Amino acid sequence: MPETLLEAEGLRKRFGATQALDGVDLTVPNGAIIGLLGPNGAGKTTMLRILSTLTRPDAGRARVAGFDVVRDAARVRATIGLAGQSAALDEKLTGYENLLMFGRLSRLRERDAKARAAGLLEHYDLAGAAGRLVSTYSGGMRRRLDLISSLIVAPRLLFLDEPTTGLDPRSRNEIWETVRQLVADGTTVLLTTQYLEEADQLADRITIVNHGRVVADGTSHALKAAIGTRVRVVLRDGADQARAVRLLSAATGSPAHAGATAHEVEGACDPTLRIPAIVRELDDAGVVAEDVTLQTPSLDEVFLALTGSGSGGRSGGAGESGSGGAGDGAGDGSHNFVSAPTPDPTTVPSPESLSR
Ligand SMILES: Nc1ncnc2c1ncn2[C@@H]1O[C@H](COP(=O)(O)OP(=O)(O)OP(=O)(O)O)[C@@H](O)[C@H]1O
Ligand SMILES: [Mg+2]
Repeated sequence: MPETLLEAEGLRKRFGATQALDGVDLTVPNGAIIGLLGPNGAGKTTMLRILSTLTRPDAGRARVAGFDVVRDAARVRATIGLAGQSAALDEKLTGYENLLMFGRLSRLRERDAKARAAGLLEHYDLAGAAGRLVSTYSGGMRRRLDLISSLIVAPRLLFLDEPTTGLDPRSRNEIWETVRQLVADGTTVLLTTQYLEEADQLADRITIVNHGRVVADGTSHALKAAIGTRVRVVLRDGADQARAVRLLSAATGSPAHAGATAHEVEGACDPTLRIPAIVRELDDAGVVAEDVTLQTPSLDEVFLALTGSGSGGRSGGAGESGSGGAGDGAGDGSHNFVSAPTPDPTTVPSPESLSR
């Protein structure tokens, strides 16, 4: 099996005055869950429509399992499944009948379609509702059935367009479980989402798009690390502040500064820096730290900083206090990302420079 199941390069698509895609590159490795994250109108659905052969790109190319989405569209379609942004279910049929219908549309023989429908309902925990009309299903059940209906012919690559938008937390968790399960069963998934938590929970790699362009790409850990980890020290004695600023600057290799009170010092630091090392440096100089905190920005902050829809402040940052370092080490995968500690959306690399 090839290592890469989907490769897209320089995809562009214009609708009238709107440049929906402005040169997007994307790679989906076999067996991965890739998250395409972006605000309303970022171009996510347009991207999925091109990759699933429903829309032709104006420029660029994409291949799924080695097949070109324009020239070999039929073979691409035989490889993929798509659960669109609005469910494609028939309300007047039962769950089972809906799956049967998809099976027949996919040209399965009746016997095979019945077996597949029953098997999927059982496997994905919907057997109990199989005989009920879809009109009686909750929103979460509909989404799950819709998702399952795209598995009728066991696609190698499944596109999910905002699979949990509008669902309550419990239904969302159920969808996440279903996605994890189908990946464990061997399906590769490209999902779009507006929810950072969803991308954080599910995706091995996240591509953030905004205004039809890729603004960042990497693991959630790498994206958070790249925006910069902060260290904050609370001193027992405020008279030590100036010395602590110097010591912290030396320990982190970047300029620290006085915090909000005389007892606080803070600065940027490398996410691999460990708290005990900082405490030791201070201790050796006779400065007593009552608390040392490393703060990794949340994915929300990364997203806001990159899509320019916020200040990129760190108020909600996932703090880590006391011991250890910032997460599980920074070497968990490369990322293509602005490396400046203070993110500025205008300095992010162009999609061209993001290609590897
Ligand atoms: N068929 C179309 N005709 C005209 N404009 C379109 C069409 N499809 C998409 N657009 C425009 O292209 C841009 C990208 O749309 P797209 O649906 O890809 O965004 P999205 O990221 O999926 O957004 P959402 O999160 O709201 O689903 C938007 O400005 C949208 O209005
Ligand atoms: Mg969309």
